[in-house]
Amino acid sequence: MESLLHVKFKLNGKEVEVEVPPNMTLLDMLRRKLGVTSVKKGCEVGECGACTVLLNGKPVNSCLVLAPKVNGKEVITVEGLLEDGKLSPIQEAFIEEMAIQCGYCTPGFILITKALLDENKNPSIDEIKEALSGNLCRCTGYVHIIRAVRKAAEKISKGSL
Ligand code: FES
Ligand code: FES
Repeated sequence: MESLLHVKFKLNGKEVEVEVPPNMTLLDMLRRKLGVTSVKKGCEVGECGACTVLLNGKPVNSCLVLAPKVNGKEVITVEGLLEDGKLSPIQEAFIEEMAIQCGYCTPGFILITKALLDENKNPSIDEIKEALSGNLCRCTGYVHIIRAVRKAAEKISKGSL
């Protein structure tokens, strides 16, 4: 019988505990064990960014992280950005700027944007392009996504005045 490891971590602010095979990825643990299907499975080799989550506040490709490695840590998925049940300024900006078509890449882009704006409240277009360079979108052509990131930065800076 396959041995299982016990993993205890914080997911979007709540403690969760789960038993996983030692070689299961964080991506599969979130989707298959915890039902968090907003975390998308794309390439599974760290090239598309669809599986991006925040691990202790930093963006990671969850397809490249083994699930037992998050023991004792904090994971944020796009659900964790809601503020009092409402969409965050980043989520609103993506909708308003029509930065979503099929939506498959969107949770990853929103989380990478959160990581960027946590570190740099007023990124230039080049800084946005650099931050988003590990995330692929097959639909939008990126222009709307970049506009959404700028708009999110403006919304956040207005909200903090
Ligand atoms: S599925 Fe993880 S980077 Fe593509
Ligand atoms: S909106 Fe379809 S892949 Fe980005």
